Amino acid sequence: MSDIVLELQNVSRIFGEGDTQVKALDDVSFRIKRGEFVLIVGSSGSGKSTLLNMIGLLDKPTFGKVILDGKETTTLNDGQVSQYRNEKLGFVFQFANLLPDLTVLENVMLPQQIQGSSEDIRQNATDLLIKVGLEDQINKRSNKISGGQAQRAAIARGLVNRPTVVLADEPTGNLDSVTAGKVVKLAKTMAKELNQTFIIVTHDRHQFPDVDRVITIIDGKAFDGKQTTMEISA
Ligand SMILES: Nc1ncnc2c1ncn2[C@@H]1O[C@H](COP(=O)(O)OP(=O)(O)OP(=O)(O)O)[C@@H](O)[C@H]1O
Ligand SMILES: [Mg+2]
Repeated sequence: MSDIVLELQNVSRIFGEGDTQVKALDDVSFRIKRGEFVLIVGSSGSGKSTLLNMIGLLDKPTFGKVILDGKETTTLNDGQVSQYRNEKLGFVFQFANLLPDLTVLENVMLPQQIQGSSEDIRQNATDLLIKVGLEDQINKRSNKISGGQAQRAAIARGLVNRPTVVLADEPTGNLDSVTAGKVVKLAKTMAKELNQTFIIVTHDRHQFPDVDRVITIIDGKAFDGKQTTMEISA
């Protein structure tokens, strides 16, 4: 098993044509190792969501390659992409996006049911909910829990398939700073305990102290390191 779980090779994404053409990503290359906790930061319009869509196999590059867990994905057809996405990626969004009429447990079990795994789905989901500190909330309806609890459930759901990479787009954007801090701490604990790779897009670098890596996007170009946007442009 290779140590590299994700590699982008010279990825560009161009929207539109002629005068209205926008180069949202401009020759982006990097590699991410198993277990790394990576932040993607950058100002509004810099290309963060476009990059996350590439990594999440939700959109394809105009040029370049996206290699996820050893497989070059840009040549896969739509059906193959969907299957590979379900198998290899977990998603956590800004709003927990739990289905309100299902219980917390049922929400966390969902991705595994889609995949039709033969494992003990309920036990696995229950174990993860205990790990994220929601043992008391397991059988509650999802519209009866708090925002922070919902986001913790969303993290459990993102992890339930044991994906190669968990992708999170502004996972703390909808939370107060204390709750956000707890969610960040939880994600980092899970990353460490399970050697789980996380890639997190945030506009708020300060919510995430001590990450392994920060990739800063400026005008579609990626700068890799631990600096913030301000330090790079200073
Ligand atoms: N579907 C699209 N069609 C045309 N242009 C697009 C499209 N999606 C994004 N863009 C452009 O690409 C650039 C990067 O957009 P992107 O959404 O990736 O930025 P972002 O860093 O996620 O911004 P924000 O922090 O505001 O969410 C912007 O100039 C945007 O206008
Ligand atoms: Mg965005």
